[in-house]
Amino acid sequence: MDNDIEYNEALKKLKTYGQEQVLDRYNFLDDNKKQKLIKQIKNIDFDQIQELFIEKDKKIDDKACKITNIEYVDKSKLSKEEYERYNEIGTKIIQEGKYAVVTMAGGQGTRLGYVAPKGTFKIGGGIDKSLFEALSDTIKEAREKYNTSIPWYIMTSRENNNATEKFFEKNDFFNLPYEDVKFFKQGELPMLDTNGKLMLDETGIIKLAADGHGGVFEALSKNGYIEDMKKRNIEWIFISGVDNVLAGLVDPIAVGLSVVNNTLATGKSVVKRNPSEKVGVFCKKNGRPYVIEYTEITDDMANAKDKNGELLYGESHILTNLFNIKALEDISKNKLPYHSAFKKAKYMDKNGEIIKPEKPNAYKFEAFIFDAFESLDDMSILRVKREDEFAPLKNAEGEDSPDTARQLYINYINRKNK
Ligand code: UTP
Repeated sequence: MDNDIEYNEALKKLKTYGQEQVLDRYNFLDDNKKQKLIKQIKNIDFDQIQELFIEKDKKIDDKACKITNIEYVDKSKLSKEEYERYNEIGTKIIQEGKYAVVTMAGGQGTRLGYVAPKGTFKIGGGIDKSLFEALSDTIKEAREKYNTSIPWYIMTSRENNNATEKFFEKNDFFNLPYEDVKFFKQGELPMLDTNGKLMLDETGIIKLAADGHGGVFEALSKNGYIEDMKKRNIEWIFISGVDNVLAGLVDPIAVGLSVVNNTLATGKSVVKRNPSEKVGVFCKKNGRPYVIEYTEITDDMANAKDKNGELLYGESHILTNLFNIKALEDISKNKLPYHSAFKKAKYMDKNGEIIKPEKPNAYKFEAFIFDAFESLDDMSILRVKREDEFAPLKNAEGEDSPDTARQLYINYINRKNK
């Protein structure tokens, strides 16, 4: 189509939504960028953007929902018979090649402040391994143990995809077969200023940002990987973040538990350290599985104890969840809600100047993976030991930092090798 016609169509669309400022820098862009911008305008769902802005401060109506605790199974307290039963079922499924792993590595890692993709961060302290390598070790070990293939799907973002793929190439895919490691980019949404206007990024086109870890379902589907899984006869898919070096990626007990309970998902939890720990916890909302965030939970609920004296809402969600392919497919067909965060975002103003704000200036919209749980009739919860399966790497120092994650990893390896 002729460039002028495309431009005029884009302008018309923008005018309908009061977003013409997006073309402020159009004449200063090179042809490639001009095309990119026009394509962005074509693809953006402006009705959705309007709605996101209107709803950005909307809080969940607590009165309309009934929160109750959720049942869980403690992996370390299973009887020998239970353990063997779950293990036998799960092992068979894994051995038959019906198990896959998804690692979500599309985040920006802002708190860690590391410029490259978080997965390329070296554990350090004498361990010359990146997070990606440590996770690939877990997969390799399981491939050997179960004598099977375990496809690994890695979610990246527009910003870090090339660097991630290059890292794997440079490291020869950590000796995993190429055909079993797939990368896919997550979706993006525009950021909005305080007036609900789209902004320009440093290159003069619309400023987009990754749509949150909840984007994993849509991204898997859009990139053809749910189909790919089906072709490979995959039935169970474990999804976790790149920033937990101890994530128990291949877990027959989680599979066996879901099969025996007849649930389409198992969420792994660790015990909340204390009532005020800033973690989301598994619970039920109107009878359906749900994660209530620390910002939403009341003091009474946070302190409530069960008959054994344990926290009633004490099963922390650690972003390590197992889904049946049917659940994955169903979830991917529906949009998850978006949560807004007010952030500092660099942008180009109408004079072409790059503005680096000192204070938050823009809304970012993200979907959270756990918002998908509500669409399931039920899910199993498997409590695991924090020291065995949870070593988060979030901050540059202090809690959940390289120091703490490294120590947890070293302790785990030492225990394992004893
Ligand atoms: P976090 O929410 O902790 O975000 O992600 P982050 O990007 O790693 O760090 P901050 O908040 O900017 O400091 C938890 C996991 O979900 C992935 C991250 O890569 C991490 O493994 N994630 C997060 C995505 O894959 N995409 C997103 O849009 C957000």
